[in-house]
Amino acid sequence: MITLNIEKTFGFISKEAVAAYEAKAKVAREALENGTGKGNDFLGWLHLPSSISADFLADIQSTANTLRENCEVVVVAGIGGSYLGARAVIEALSNSFTWLQNDKKNPVIVYAGHNIGEDYLYELTGFLKDKKFGVINISKSGTTTETALAFRLLKKQCEDQRGKEMAKKVIVAITDAKKGAARITADNEGYKSFIIPDNVGGRFSVLTPVGLLPIAIAGFDITKFVAGATDMEKTCAVDVPFAQNPAMIYAATRNELYKNGKKIEIMVNYNPKLHYVSEWWKQLYGESEGKENKGIFPAAVDFSTDLHSMGQWIQEGERTIFETVISVEKTNYSLSVPSDEANLDGLNFLAGKHVDEVNKMAELGTQIAHIDGGVPNIRIVIPELNEYNIGQLLYFFEIGCGISGYILGVNPFDQPGVEAYKKNMFALLNKPGYEEESKAIQSRL
Ligand code: PA5
Repeated sequence: MITLNIEKTFGFISKEAVAAYEAKAKVAREALENGTGKGNDFLGWLHLPSSISADFLADIQSTANTLRENCEVVVVAGIGGSYLGARAVIEALSNSFTWLQNDKKNPVIVYAGHNIGEDYLYELTGFLKDKKFGVINISKSGTTTETALAFRLLKKQCEDQRGKEMAKKVIVAITDAKKGAARITADNEGYKSFIIPDNVGGRFSVLTPVGLLPIAIAGFDITKFVAGATDMEKTCAVDVPFAQNPAMIYAATRNELYKNGKKIEIMVNYNPKLHYVSEWWKQLYGESEGKENKGIFPAAVDFSTDLHSMGQWIQEGERTIFETVISVEKTNYSLSVPSDEANLDGLNFLAGKHVDEVNKMAELGTQIAHIDGGVPNIRIVIPELNEYNIGQLLYFFEIGCGISGYILGVNPFDQPGVEAYKKNMFALLNKPGYEEESKAIQSRL
């Protein structure tokens, strides 16, 4: 099991202050369970892991196999909650280099629909030109501009390159059951499709087909991934007392730190494969808690890389931060530092040691330095990177987020603020139906 350790926050907040959250955390956890809190029409994720059936996973796996058999490359088209979960899991588990060349075992997974970069899309269509590729079009609303725009290009290219019949086989839609352009296109074209349940918001959707299908296509075991999440669902269940419930403790600790002026939480990893877990976590917590003029700002760094850039700020900048460190206990491979006769770099004192021993001392040294510098540390330990443990980790953050948002007093399941830019963008682009907004915004330019 993954474990949570908050000992290194106690020089900054007291044990008693965290323990005093017991009643609040219990109320929050019960509100999730009983559906009595804000945003209670978006709680479909809560018991999702334990409710996923073997038949459902088999259907996903069979679709994944069709794409695996017919594609060298699969493009996952989606944005925000419709792509970050899949990318977090795939990058955490993938070899860092095989994507550069097809390993002939698994399709290369690439991403689109998460930006509006003309050069990015041009280069992507160029990369796909001589490839047998497929597309997963993921959009809950089915109308998100970034994703729809990319899908328009990819659908045409896939049909032109592979023919209409094959395109039908290798394009899959994951969207609403009834509404939205992605649903209509899928039904009209006869694409295989999966439904994103109404009561699961994008950022909580990694255990729906949104995450599961791309993860299975990439060659990872979705049964183990779901099993990890299911075990964490039990560990953080409503009847597990505060002292043994890691989600409640995490939620309580970060709220107490926030109350004491620690306005920024920095997610730290010492393994570059976890970069996108942090990106996923940033969306989960940022979109869930950043509202009503409050909420911890979620930031992330990759160490030791960023110790050579952001390390200075973290050590000596404004003391409004705390760190949550994800530490991977055991590496998947073994590599030792070689001895060198000339020893010009002076590293012979490390000869024979595993690279990870050096990494672990960087981690310990940094923890001590940052605590000395006034940065409280929360630590999450993962035994090793595999499907089961990542399933646990992601569900832990989801439930921690629900509890934390309720303790903060916000609705963690809406995101009214993300509409503002869209309204302005459509007005500036003269989208039909936005005539009044167009006039208003033009007059401000
Ligand atoms: O979490 C969310 O709600 C958002 O990040 C959405 O997932 C994102 O905006 C994409 O929306 P959609 O799936 O409707 O295309």
